Amino acid sequence: MKTTISVIKADIGSLAGHHVVHPDTMAAANKVLAEAKKNGVIIDYYITNVGDDMELIMTHNRGELDTKVHETAWDAFKEATKVAKDLGLYAAGQDLLSDTFSGNLKGMGPGIAEMEIEERPAEPIAIFMADKTEPGAFNYPQYKMFADPFNTAGLVIDPTMHEGYKFEILDVYAGESVTLNAPEEIYDILALIGTPSQYVIRRVYRKADNMIASVTSIERLNLLAGKYVGKDDPVMIVRVQHGFPALGEVLEAFSFPYLVPGWMRGSHYGPLMPVSQRDARATRFDGPPRLIGLGFNVKNGRLVGPSDLFDDPAFDETRRLAEQIADYMRRHGPFMPHRLEPTEMEYTTLPLIQQKLKARFKKEAGVAEAKKSIYEKQVEGGD
Ligand code: 13P
Ligand code: 13P
Ligand code: MG
Ligand code: MG
Ligand code: MG
Repeated sequence: MKTTISVIKADIGSLAGHHVVHPDTMAAANKVLAEAKKNGVIIDYYITNVGDDMELIMTHNRGELDTKVHETAWDAFKEATKVAKDLGLYAAGQDLLSDTFSGNLKGMGPGIAEMEIEERPAEPIAIFMADKTEPGAFNYPQYKMFADPFNTAGLVIDPTMHEGYKFEILDVYAGESVTLNAPEEIYDILALIGTPSQYVIRRVYRKADNMIASVTSIERLNLLAGKYVGKDDPVMIVRVQHGFPALGEVLEAFSFPYLVPGWMRGSHYGPLMPVSQRDARATRFDGPPRLIGLGFNVKNGRLVGPSDLFDDPAFDETRRLAEQIADYMRRHGPFMPHRLEPTEMEYTTLPLIQQKLKARFKKEAGVAEAKKSIYEKQVEGGD
């Protein structure tokens, strides 16, 4: 029988700002999931948090986008929101955009990553969860894991990985996806995924047999709600070992604290800092953007584990470098490229300020008016 792993997350309110999930809200969600486990809707579950995002990790036999499983997650978030409201937590119900559940959670606010698999005799997986960033933040590490032999030795020396992987890439603005092959098309892949705010790697498959290797949550709250209501702090499930990257190859992809959009008010670039569960709290400038990783084995749907993957001195230097980058970026204050480009900011007063100052702008003779604004400008070629 096939097993489905569903990781569903939402920010339903947090303690002392966009800082950390309150344990009482996790307890409320736990009650709902325990009941669902007792009733056989799910086989097993684990609840955790990164910063202000509550993460429900569930296993079952019902396939992806299952109504009962999604309703269970929705009920858990609703019950947790009640507690958040009761305690007066900050931004209670933040990511729940609709009042009524109908069918599944798509478009309702929570982030969803699900994969249905035929369990291997040993099925090791790693689940990554980030706060203060967006789904495209997982483009860089997925490329490193599945396409870069300088990161993943297995691409060169493991015959079961040597054929490479397929990347399913979603254009979140056009609502279209394309599947490209690595290593043959890596330049095309990079041309797209280097713009992570638009092109997001949704799934990766092993080319030899089409086996699913990773899946990322792709909901973008700003586009869903028609306005920016919060960056969608993402989750990702990765299968490891036996024809997939080794756990250590997957973790190696996070050894460099690369820059991601998010951080303060969802409007700044900052380094993604891998941390232990204990340190999964947003603090400095509401960050820096944080990542946790949990390792499990799945056996007949049972979640064995977890191991807290970044609770390790091997990542101390990554964290130290992240702090140095945080210092460097912060020194820019409100200047780009610390602050995001206007089209990507979660909050912006810019249109209001432009409006207010409109009458005070004077036409300048001899300065040609651009046909398009700098944000619409298309570069047609290079040299
Ligand atoms: P062990 O010898 O510790 O089992 O490690 C094997 C391996 O391939 C590590 O990546
Ligand atoms: P969250 O998306 O984690 O709620 O953060 C929002 C924010 O504005 C942080 O400064
Ligand atoms: Mg929040
Ligand atoms: Mg968050
Ligand atoms: Mg968020």
